[in-house]
Amino acid sequence: PSPKRGLCHVPSQEHPYDDAIWTPSNKSQLTWYYNYKTSPSPSFIPHKDLQFVPMLWGASSSDKADDPSFLDTITAQIARGANITHILSFNEPDGPYATGGSNMPIRLAVDVWKTQIEPLRKLGVKVGAPAVTGSPIGLEWLSTWLEACEGGCTPDFVPVHWYGDFEGLARHVGYVVVRFPGLPVWVTEWGFGEAGLEDTQRMFKMSVALLDRWPAVERYAYFGAFRSDVSNVGPNAAMLTEGGLLTDIGSWYMGGEATHEIP
Ligand SMILES: *[C@@H]1O[C@H](CO)[C@@H](O)[C@H](O)[C@H]1NC(C)=O
Ligand SMILES: *[C@@H]1O[C@H](CO)[C@@H](O)[C@H](O)[C@H]1NC(C)=O
Repeated sequence: PSPKRGLCHVPSQEHPYDDAIWTPSNKSQLTWYYNYKTSPSPSFIPHKDLQFVPMLWGASSSDKADDPSFLDTITAQIARGANITHILSFNEPDGPYATGGSNMPIRLAVDVWKTQIEPLRKLGVKVGAPAVTGSPIGLEWLSTWLEACEGGCTPDFVPVHWYGDFEGLARHVGYVVVRFPGLPVWVTEWGFGEAGLEDTQRMFKMSVALLDRWPAVERYAYFGAFRSDVSNVGPNAAMLTEGGLLTDIGSWYMGGEATHEIP
């Protein structure tokens, strides 16, 4: 098992049994997962070797910024004995809803962080900075947000997303490592979106090798764990075929051999 390697869990309404693929009876490399939600995925609760990392996906201005529901939920899970050591905050707050972003104004993201995220640090939980998109606008959003916090937001690690080629990933992670010295990086979504199968597989192998040996990278989660026909980043990025079998990438990610199943 790899302490870095995790599952970005995108549950399928249509094929709920696909969940079982990620918890094989023999050991896999996966040691943690997140699901964009505050509570664990029901199918994974019995699997104590797959640590859940909760996320506060976003908030809209109609929510009250002082509503402590996320903080309460996490506190309650810890009180019940859940192994929660880290949490993730806003998902692509600089991105629009249409592409899965949480589309958050800076002011709202500052207020919600201070009431719901920052207090978790007192419980010993490590908190992830907002996971901005891999575009230049993303890192700009993050810097603007940090400034607007006026010292009141202290992330313990920095999640990053990347879609594109291997050199781009290496450059982007390198930039974040330099920009936030001392803070571990988590690559919580990445892949070579919309590329050909061979290029996608080569990028996957090279990036896993890089992330595995890069000390500043603490954890990573490949995107993604879904069937090729529902992939929103191109079919070749998917870890499952249209019929729900592990693709080569899916099997490699779990620690197995190539399956020669074409996405
Ligand atoms: C909690 O999860 C982490 C990460 O997977 C693991 O290293 C640790 O052993 C777990 N702790 C408990 C008490 O299960
Ligand atoms: C788990 O077992 C299956 C079926 O025997 C095999 O295909 C797969 O490669 C195994 N995974 C690992 C990580 O050994």
